[in-house]
Amino acid sequence: MRKTTAKKLLDSILLCLFFAELGGMFLPHPVHEVLGCLFIALIVLHNIKNHYFYTHFLVGTYSPLRLANNISIILFAVSLIILTLSGMVLSQYLFPWFSLASTWNWRSLHLGAAIGALVLLFVHLLLHARRYIHGRVFFGLAGTAFVLAAAGIFGMPYLDRWYHQVNVEKNAVIAGDKVSIPGRVLTVYFSRVGNTNFPSDVDAVSGASIMKDRHEIIGNAEMIAYMLQDAAGGDIFAIQTEKTYPVDYGETTKEGKRERESGKAPTLKRPLPQMENYDVIFLVYPLWWNTLPMPVAGFLKQYDWTGKILVPIVTHGGGGTGESLEAVRKATQTKIPENYLDIYSSDIPAARQKITDFLNDSSKFSAP
Ligand SMILES: Cc1cc2nc3c(=O)[nH]c(=O)nc-3n(C[C@H](O)[C@H](O)[C@H](O)COP(=O)(O)O)c2cc1C
Repeated sequence: MRKTTAKKLLDSILLCLFFAELGGMFLPHPVHEVLGCLFIALIVLHNIKNHYFYTHFLVGTYSPLRLANNISIILFAVSLIILTLSGMVLSQYLFPWFSLASTWNWRSLHLGAAIGALVLLFVHLLLHARRYIHGRVFFGLAGTAFVLAAAGIFGMPYLDRWYHQVNVEKNAVIAGDKVSIPGRVLTVYFSRVGNTNFPSDVDAVSGASIMKDRHEIIGNAEMIAYMLQDAAGGDIFAIQTEKTYPVDYGETTKEGKRERESGKAPTLKRPLPQMENYDVIFLVYPLWWNTLPMPVAGFLKQYDWTGKILVPIVTHGGGGTGESLEAVRKATQTKIPENYLDIYSSDIPAARQKITDFLNDSSKFSAP
């Protein structure tokens, strides 16, 4: 095979692998890890085959185009190094022994590096194409690359949030520093998990707001509730409805919308906790349609909240606390809670320290 044909073949395989890896949220984890290793091995080969880049790096004059090309290549290399390291930290099959700073959010870093690499790859390819293609065709290509890069920047976090299966080690994720809270503590939570009949084949379950520890599915709000209980002690209670929610994530969102529009809270499973036994209540819930899920509103309406310290902890897909604090005020017939925390759904596996820091401010837990 001629040298240039071999190079082109290698580059084509690299491109295919790169896009296959970008869609890694749709692949089984072991396949994503193996293809990632293959991609990095072929990138090394690509660099060996293009060694003139290094041997001529400081040779000759630097036109603006050459400068831009070299900068994009260096930044692309940096993003690949971050991708590789974060991928190894997240790896469960090929590098389970590899770990680095455990407080870093390696998932967000991996996703950010993938988006950065995508954009830089387009820049690199365009600058390369500029040597051979001119005029309208080049601008057509540049426009397409721009649209694809924008789709990657905005679409990948979305796909990652809704389709990525997050594998965690529950006990490791929830363990951390203990904080002494004055008063008797109850953590109440509502989560999609626990209110949905997921199939017993855990690997067939995908969709947003689901984490997995081998054969256990854990909801986002549920994981935060476990973290809170580990940090603050006390009791824990899961709000459960008599009905179940659809397994399909999209269908659940529609059901949540119907409930909100009807204004009726679904019937809750009993027995409910005896609230007179508690002073501080952490209320963990997901933001639903920018507000409180109806089952949580229904739960709050069961009690007299006078003299209780109610601390909402909200998990969300980007909407923060939305209008849910006002909904808590309405449902509890008290004032808007002053102390609350919101946690973005992708940040949950790394949120334990954030919870400790939040709890450490004891002024939050003095009676109103
Ligand atoms: C019915 C429904 C409505 C949602 N509405 C919003 C929303 O308005 N804003 C937002 O940021 N996230 C929204 N989300 C995303 C959830 O708040 C987020 O995925 C949360 O972490 C899920 O927690 P869970 O796994 O404990 O159910 C919605 C999810 C569902 C199921």
